[in-house]
Amino acid sequence: MAKPFYITTAIHYVNDVPHIGHMYENIAADVIARHRRRMGDDVFFLTGTDEHGQKVERSAAKEGILPIELADRVVAEHHRLWKTLNISNDDFIRTTEGRHRIGVYELIKRIQERMPDDIYLGSHSGWYCQSEETFIPDNQVKDKKDESGHPVEQTTETNYFFKLSRYTEPLLRHYRDNPGFVYPQTRLNEVVAFVEQGLKDLSISRTSVKWGIPFPGNPDHVIYVWMDALTNYISALGFGEGQHARFDQYWPADIHLVGKDIVRFHAVYWPAFLMSAGLPLPKRVVGHGWWLRDNQKISKSLGNIVRPNEIIDRFGTDPFRYFVMRDMVFGQDQNYSDESFITRYNGDLAKGLGNALSRTLKMAETYFEGRTPPVPCNDNELKTTAEQIIPEYLKAMDELAFHRALESAWRLVSAVDRYIVTREPWKHFKEKGADEALSRVLWNCLEALRIVCVMIAPVMPATASNALTRIGDGPEAIGSDALQWGRLANGATLRGGDGLFPVIDAAKYLEKNMDEITPPLETTQAASPDVAKISIDQFMQTDLRVGEVRSAERVPKSKKLIRMMIFTGDGERQIVAGIGTKYTPEELVGRKVIIVANLQPATLMGVESNGMVLAASIDGEPSLLSVDPSVPAGTKVK
Ligand code: ME8
Ligand code: MG
Repeated sequence: MAKPFYITTAIHYVNDVPHIGHMYENIAADVIARHRRRMGDDVFFLTGTDEHGQKVERSAAKEGILPIELADRVVAEHHRLWKTLNISNDDFIRTTEGRHRIGVYELIKRIQERMPDDIYLGSHSGWYCQSEETFIPDNQVKDKKDESGHPVEQTTETNYFFKLSRYTEPLLRHYRDNPGFVYPQTRLNEVVAFVEQGLKDLSISRTSVKWGIPFPGNPDHVIYVWMDALTNYISALGFGEGQHARFDQYWPADIHLVGKDIVRFHAVYWPAFLMSAGLPLPKRVVGHGWWLRDNQKISKSLGNIVRPNEIIDRFGTDPFRYFVMRDMVFGQDQNYSDESFITRYNGDLAKGLGNALSRTLKMAETYFEGRTPPVPCNDNELKTTAEQIIPEYLKAMDELAFHRALESAWRLVSAVDRYIVTREPWKHFKEKGADEALSRVLWNCLEALRIVCVMIAPVMPATASNALTRIGDGPEAIGSDALQWGRLANGATLRGGDGLFPVIDAAKYLEKNMDEITPPLETTQAASPDVAKISIDQFMQTDLRVGEVRSAERVPKSKKLIRMMIFTGDGERQIVAGIGTKYTPEELVGRKVIIVANLQPATLMGVESNGMVLAASIDGEPSLLSVDPSVPAGTKVK
């Protein structure tokens, strides 16, 4: 019987449509699910949405719609996006579904039966963090902010509490006995350090919020956030529904895949709830890193969301999946940029795999009448290389080191390139025709590339199927034993066709995107509560001055950029600013502005900019900072 393998992602808040961070998490889970499936496991892959709570209530109220209407709309976006991204989830749970409520009630019932004082009504005062929807221990609050810089406020409430404090020791014992429970190790260390400080009881209900599951027996309260959300992992399996077949088959989960910000809730609260209810604990909580932009976590609240729809529309799903899996070292943070996407696309896909595949196919088709060369070969350096790489690849996949797994696949691509260059099949063909030796050479190349396709299949499923069809093997050949040298079909029809990944003119692409996609550097981002405080000395390092615009013109082919000559008291300097959607060059001339005078020069669409003009940005629309016109140019601002 196939081994069950249950993997989940976090359920995403529906107060916003998904961004690259959510996409990454689902793609990573999908890669694991596809890999386990082809290795023969009986996989169940769950994703879903977290729909209750104050944030959703408020966002909906702001739009003048019901919370469920907002949720329905965002869930529709999820379904569309997951389809586009080729996510192979087996189920999708919404916390507003009946089956979820049944699961939550069952969990509470089991806790109340087994540990009658684990849930109690109590009143609690403390620092409450609105944005994390949780109370923060006193020792983690500084200047009315929590450790991540979110504002906290003193709050008193009568709530139901869960006796989390009772689980400090049992949890520490569990981490000691199961060092793989939290992965990677750094995340485990953080969790252990947190629990070692001693756990406080956890508030699990609210009276101030209506949008949630009514507390059993006391509908003045709704069940609040984590007790509701975490239970999705078992409610989706039919927990509490009498018919427990899926729960019995798949629980405990093999992997809960979540971002590092919510590892704590999964590795502390969740196992404590389950211990209290007498249920088995998940095997592993895996914490991935964050996608950053300008070194800050990409999120709605920071207003630096990246929605890579343009990349997906233009290049297709697989290059995007490849990029996020290859570019991020699993577990660590990574900065997003269009430059790194194009570099990987051109280097690894167009000029790497795509090129190796199309030149090999073209030669094989020409020399062997469109069929796989007839003479297989089991003694050559490509076979040796492949057999070194395959176990490394499998180990990397097991360790969720996707970047390393892909890197090893690309070592085989390079080996094929080198092999072709040294064997010079075109010369051989000219001199000796399509003999056995030539057949072996091309057979080896095709076989090595077939193995590469099998390796990349979990990350680029459509590309792998397509390429396997071209080399005559067909997409069915991606099972676990396909990762063995010598499986290439003999005499099968080859289908070269167009290249898989046309090369892109990077400079042109980036020039266009610099203007259209990247937020203008010259305007401030939405103010973030997470920005660390700086000292007055640090601030004083910024040379702010009054400048006077002497001339201005639009940068050709750009909607936003305006090139200005600005007088700063001792001379004129050229500054380019993304303010052209709001201001015309004519109205800028003669205006006094505030500039940063000691910035390193930057080039925007080929035009050098020496400094920046300050503006406030409202939904991307700039509003220039101004000063009384009588203040002379060059005056310092502080
Ligand atoms: O936390 N980079 O939902 P969520 C990488 N509903 N991952 C990111 C990210 C980024 N910039 N931003 C978010 C919640 N994520 C709760 C979870 S689970 C029972 C309840 C990840 O929509 C984040 O770490 O804020 C989390 O794993 C997931 O996206 C959903 O985040
Ligand atoms: Mg979040």
